Amino acid sequence: NFDPPYVFVVFGASGDLAKKKIYPTLWWLFRDNLLPNNVAFVGYARSDLTVDKLRSGFEKNCKVRDNEKDAFEDFIKKCSYIQGKYDDDEGFKKLKAFIDEYQATSNNQPVNRLYYLALPPNVFENVTTELRNNCMDNGDSWTRVIIEKPFGHDLKSSDHLSKHLSKLFKEDQMYRIDHYLGKEMVQNLMVLRFGNRIMAPSWNRDHIASVMISFKEDFGTGGRAGYFDTAGIIRDVMQNHLMQILTLVAMEKPASLDTENIRDEKVKVLKAIKPVELKDVVVGQYIANPDFNHPEAKHGYKDDEDVPKDSVTPTYALAVFHVHNERWEGVPFFMRCGKGLNEKKAEVRIQFKEVSGDIYPAGELKRTELVMRVNPDEAVYMKLMTKKPGMGFGVEETELDLTYNSRYKGTRLPDAYERLILEVFMGSQINFVRTDELEHAWRILTPVLDELEQKKIKPIEYKFGSRGPAEADELMKKHGFVFTGTYKWVAPENK
Ligand code: BG6
Repeated sequence: NFDPPYVFVVFGASGDLAKKKIYPTLWWLFRDNLLPNNVAFVGYARSDLTVDKLRSGFEKNCKVRDNEKDAFEDFIKKCSYIQGKYDDDEGFKKLKAFIDEYQATSNNQPVNRLYYLALPPNVFENVTTELRNNCMDNGDSWTRVIIEKPFGHDLKSSDHLSKHLSKLFKEDQMYRIDHYLGKEMVQNLMVLRFGNRIMAPSWNRDHIASVMISFKEDFGTGGRAGYFDTAGIIRDVMQNHLMQILTLVAMEKPASLDTENIRDEKVKVLKAIKPVELKDVVVGQYIANPDFNHPEAKHGYKDDEDVPKDSVTPTYALAVFHVHNERWEGVPFFMRCGKGLNEKKAEVRIQFKEVSGDIYPAGELKRTELVMRVNPDEAVYMKLMTKKPGMGFGVEETELDLTYNSRYKGTRLPDAYERLILEVFMGSQINFVRTDELEHAWRILTPVLDELEQKKIKPIEYKFGSRGPAEADELMKKHGFVFTGTYKWVAPENK
């Protein structure tokens, strides 16, 4: 085979992430012919496994259709397994031997290496050090290391980890995954903003009243309470997914689509945000609500056996941010996230100011809103006023609607991981988090996380399946968010 060889190594191959996400993703990319021909998938873990055992763990998540069975067998033929520890070099030497052998059978062409660390944070440092010592390229091919959150627990531990990594790898070898950056609608943010003349003049403090970035889930911690209790919702989604979305909404137009130009602009936004203060935060924790139709709703967060009875870990948080620059001074950016809420949705909502010189009866005009619905039911819609159709003169709220399921019916939107893993193969870092981005995201949130924990601030209880604490609505109102409750978007196919 004269194609250049690649190895994709999954560390933590027997773990949940590998079984649920990484292997299925590799399969879908393979199935769709998006990967290089000459690629080997290597699982690495401590357990005594075989490819067959590994396969039995991930196959059910691969959704192999009847007519894909042969292709799936071809995929499995490309898989191998190495048993090795994370803290001594024996396994890494085996991996090196595997790669050398692969090179020998690939016409001696140097092997490109992708290392996916689907591992708990306590083995991160060892594994990366071993990789550096044993498994790097010689300069005639490349090595890329993909890492998953948590990237530390606060500013200090995250900086420590970043310093460790930067001693071992160059920035262009590190791919920090934030899977929200792989979502269709998040990737669409830049196109909407910078591809439409109509947006630029109004995308600022003169016209925008507030920006709301919401992440709501109608389920609880789903068997991950042990991990969740060490993190809380702010670390779990706000510090990463929502902060990334904020930077894309708020950034200036980059000089080009070049990776570093984009990441530079994102960092500039973060630099203009001061650390959040406690007064600008509302935290909540869900309690049982047997009336809500979800199996988890019978139990409150603290009823989980993996959660201490006195846990003050928030499962809900609202925080208000201000971007202190010429474009955004005075515009509140709300981030709202929670588990055990009334619905599942993630969206960005731009609320525009009232029209000046209103000529309609008081209270009839409602604020225009531009909504980018990230999931589920991807859509972009503009809520606006229109004349009530028919004989009358009245006005009503309606929407200009770009719902993907109807406008792009049948178009398959790739899963975030598919897109991102492919981008690692291609060497595109646009949708990966740079060290300084991470540092600033932690700088903004660490003080308030510390304060919440040191003062053991009790989260406000809210019922599973509710909208979360009413105090959050009050804080948003105080900062100028207007919720009239007069309009509800319904996906066209559900109408
Ligand atoms: C993960 C969080 O990063 O994102 C989870 O750890 C959360 O708690 C998940 O449920 C949400 O991702 P998605 O793609 O299902 O919206």
